[in-house]
Amino acid sequence: MHLEKIFFAVAFAGATAASAAPVEVASTAMVGDGIALFVPQGYDPAKTPSLMLEKEPVYTAALPSSWNLVPEFTFTDGKAGAKLRVPVGTSLYGGGEVTGPLLRNGKTIELWNVDNGAYRAVDNGTHLYQTHPWVMGVRPDGTAFGILFDSSWKSHLTTADDCISFDTEGAPFRAFVIDRATPQDVVKGLAELTGTMEMPPLWSLGYHQCRFSYDTEAKVRDIAANFRSRNIPCDVIWMDIDYMDGFRIFTFDPVKFPDPKTLNDDLHKANFKAVYMIDPAPKADPEYFVYKSGTENDVWVRRADGSEYQGKVWPGMAAFPDFTVPEVRTWWAGLYKDFLATGIDGVWNDVNEPAVFDSIGTMPNDNVHRGGGGLPAGPHLLYHNAYGRFMVEGTRNGFLDVYPDKRPFVLTRSNILGGQRYAATWTGDNYAEQQHMEWSVPMSITLGLSGQPYSGPDIGGFLGNTPPELFADWIGFGVFLPFARGHACAGTNDKEPWAFGPEVEKTSRMALERRYRLLPYLYTCFYDAHNTGLPVMQPLFFADIKDQALRAEDQAFLMGENLLVVPTFAKNPALPAGIWEEISLVKGDTKAAHQASLRLKGGSIIPAGKVIQHTEEATLEPLTLYVCLDENGTAEGRLYWDAGNGWEFRNGDYSLMTFKAQKNGKKVNVALASTEGDRDVASEIKNVEVIVVEKGKTKTGRGNLADGITVKL
Ligand code: NOJ
Repeated sequence: MHLEKIFFAVAFAGATAASAAPVEVASTAMVGDGIALFVPQGYDPAKTPSLMLEKEPVYTAALPSSWNLVPEFTFTDGKAGAKLRVPVGTSLYGGGEVTGPLLRNGKTIELWNVDNGAYRAVDNGTHLYQTHPWVMGVRPDGTAFGILFDSSWKSHLTTADDCISFDTEGAPFRAFVIDRATPQDVVKGLAELTGTMEMPPLWSLGYHQCRFSYDTEAKVRDIAANFRSRNIPCDVIWMDIDYMDGFRIFTFDPVKFPDPKTLNDDLHKANFKAVYMIDPAPKADPEYFVYKSGTENDVWVRRADGSEYQGKVWPGMAAFPDFTVPEVRTWWAGLYKDFLATGIDGVWNDVNEPAVFDSIGTMPNDNVHRGGGGLPAGPHLLYHNAYGRFMVEGTRNGFLDVYPDKRPFVLTRSNILGGQRYAATWTGDNYAEQQHMEWSVPMSITLGLSGQPYSGPDIGGFLGNTPPELFADWIGFGVFLPFARGHACAGTNDKEPWAFGPEVEKTSRMALERRYRLLPYLYTCFYDAHNTGLPVMQPLFFADIKDQALRAEDQAFLMGENLLVVPTFAKNPALPAGIWEEISLVKGDTKAAHQASLRLKGGSIIPAGKVIQHTEEATLEPLTLYVCLDENGTAEGRLYWDAGNGWEFRNGDYSLMTFKAQKNGKKVNVALASTEGDRDVASEIKNVEVIVVEKGKTKTGRGNLADGITVKL
């Protein structure tokens, strides 16, 4: 611990911020490779529990005296804050789910999860549904650091050019600072602290079709049938709240959805999966089994005076489970048993900020949460931002209780940093307009840089009527985001791919065929995200961390490390130097009006499958390897494959193949260089097509993995 420096920093902070009372750092330690922990005086886990870390950090060493990123803590009028001085010229990123640009220098956001329709209903969109008190800085030389403020109290996060500040309405908190050689390593460091997402089921990487709501069984069947008869790839149909009986969660409307089991079985027969919505708050109706059982089990959040809190949501007045209590999460998990038994494949937890339809939009700050299992009791002001995260922990456990051998798919609207361990997310109620389409790129990149790799927007825009051109442009690149779902608000136009006429239908089919062809590559990117926390969707500056011109680029993006995606709306994107070759996945795609341009990085190989209609057809037979050589005539790439569901991959039932390409004169030889894992995928792949792209021209060779493949240039 280097106390002189810390005391100096604290005194300095006091001198510049007249009203902020400085607080000394009580202890410091290294808790990982390049990860430092700073604990201010007055920190008490009973007042600010850590709700984001995967586990308590283990002290590995003393803070080295050379460490120079030292947070300055303050405590003023009962409110704790911290700031970190930022070296000149640093590019700032993070903050989770935010509107606006990728580069966050000069922004202030509130961390208070809120239902924010069209990203402008509340406070001009400066806070949305999630909380990520995390900022990453990339210095001019490409080295990077990040700071995690370990507090869920209501707060503000400001990213000025010279200083990151975090001001809460609560008690003192700890801060973690990561300082590493690259931004990629810093993001991985965040995952070391807060955990990574689990492997998703492969089907969830397909296309999802949603609407608020497909409100009868017949409508659901009709939508599903259209996808298949029109040959538009799709894996999942979504049930929004109108399937419920009077918006009572865990029920089905007896007239419109009289037989969910048969409906789900039929969807399965057509190779669809069914995802159903569950909101947090059951109707406060003494005759209703969920409310009755909740009351018997004493699960409801209470007002400050100890009485049961009720708030108005979709079903009318409703009670809210206190998900901070472990037994309440277990009770909640138990509700899924009969529900999932109808053949439901995935769960969508909505409005869990929690939204309440009243003037403050949520429950009162002084409502009481009881905690337990190591968590203190505390006011809503402390637990609000984690309400959705505790809910999805219960949901995920409910799924696993019923289907221990399946990977859960849970989608949540609200969450907090660390909640990527429990659920994927979408970016809430966007509007069908150009700006929201464009924002959907930095929004998902920023979530990825903030620990949550599995996100995407409502493609086409949720609110408002979507014009055909906008839908076509949006789906043309939206299919390359980690989560790809079309959704539409009640009262807006139909937004299925065919609803806009034959041209947009053709565009959508082609875009989705491209996504489905890339599944082997996309799945490999998800494997990396699961293993290391490296985001699936990456900012362009990851391709060249020293290139200042890329720091603000947020129209073009990377899918994994090797594939650059340029949406058609990106008119003049800053692109990384070096070799990047355009590839074609489907005949005519490189010239088609709305399709994003895809460019492969020099020195890389990416795997692709054939065009399929759903992931039940996913196969590596035949396998296509797209190769783009570097200036030395070599390339390398990986392919992860497993059963697509279940947990056997943890016991070695997977294959991670590495391919290498080498140019020899006028030939390129491509071979399987190594494999990891016990699943023998390689010997099952008999037909490999290798496409080498060089200076805009492609050459193809065919063969099998055992012999290697030669491509004549
Ligand atoms: C709000 C969600 O954000 C939206 O996606 C959903 O359609 C509506 N709630 C209705 O459930």
